[in-house]
Amino acid sequence: MTSTLTLRRPDDWHLHLRDGDALRAVVAASARQFARAIVMPNLKPPVTTPAAARAYHGRILQALAQARAAGEIDALAAAEFQPLMTLYLTDNTPAADIVQAHAEGLVKGVKLYPAGATTNSDAGVTDIARVRGALEAMQRCGLPLLVHGEVTDADIDLFDRERVFIDRVLMPMRRDFPGLKVVFEHITTREAAQYVAQADELTAATITAHHLLYNRNALFIGGVRPHWYCLPVLKREQHRQALMAAATGGHPRFFLGTDSAPHARHLKEHACGCAGCYTAPHALELYASAFEAAGALDRFEAFASLNGPAFYGLPANERTITLRRETWTIPESLPFGADAIVPLAGGESIGWRLGD
Ligand code: NCD
Ligand code: ZN
Repeated sequence: MTSTLTLRRPDDWHLHLRDGDALRAVVAASARQFARAIVMPNLKPPVTTPAAARAYHGRILQALAQARAAGEIDALAAAEFQPLMTLYLTDNTPAADIVQAHAEGLVKGVKLYPAGATTNSDAGVTDIARVRGALEAMQRCGLPLLVHGEVTDADIDLFDRERVFIDRVLMPMRRDFPGLKVVFEHITTREAAQYVAQADELTAATITAHHLLYNRNALFIGGVRPHWYCLPVLKREQHRQALMAAATGGHPRFFLGTDSAPHARHLKEHACGCAGCYTAPHALELYASAFEAAGALDRFEAFASLNGPAFYGLPANERTITLRRETWTIPESLPFGADAIVPLAGGESIGWRLGD
């Protein structure tokens, strides 16, 4: 049995780093695990302009320098970590902002949140017809659209929102903008996996560790378990199996995106708890467990470290990391500014560990 696993440094193609004290609390965890990360723009207020993305980029690097000074991360990992910025698409995003963001080079994608779909999505897009100019600009300059693929109609069952999005929004949009690069983010269903597997080379998907490891039973076993609640919500076992097959099957356009989405403990353990699973500190360990369960550790590097950069037109990372077989316990709670945060599967044991 393999006791170590060495691969090129992975990247996280979908990450929430937050801002302020929360940013300071979580940024080192991602920089220890990943060389680069696509950073989501759903702050309050959202990152809607190239100037806001530049300023946020600066705050991320500053928080990382503070973590480095506090001895929370080594100098090399801190120096290497590259936040890849995104713009939050609104009904009013000018095409000129897209062109400018692309020309400046910090922004690597534009995020489509259907208005009301998830945390801080109120300023999101109400109708694709309203963002045609922005999509045309993205198509022209090759900037990918990163899609939260769920409809928000009240009459659609929450568990069907992703499947319905494919037919009602994604397929018509693909027809209208055939040259647009699209990442269907954090896919959760067999239908989404099938759609991406059969689409052309301009369509890709990220898959989280939690959607590979858990089905919706995890939300309810022994009582309501808010730390397993995220959006899109965990689905039935047949969908989890389809995602496992997609991630481990060697298809080049499925890649790693944690969707690590930190919320303070008291906001998760709440009458109306926030959506989001905090996986950044042990993301690679979770993914390695999933790939091992599928007998596909030999395909882990492509998913974690090669397919993402290839789709984004970036080089793969040069350095490597090593995971070793070791059983350890995920902390039950971690500091989160003045609050605490519960990482996903906190208190449970896991069989892989990232080396120093
Ligand atoms: C994310 C968040 O908290 O920002 N929550 C989540 O459940 N994934 C938003 C998102 O990506 O949908
Ligand atoms: Zn997300």
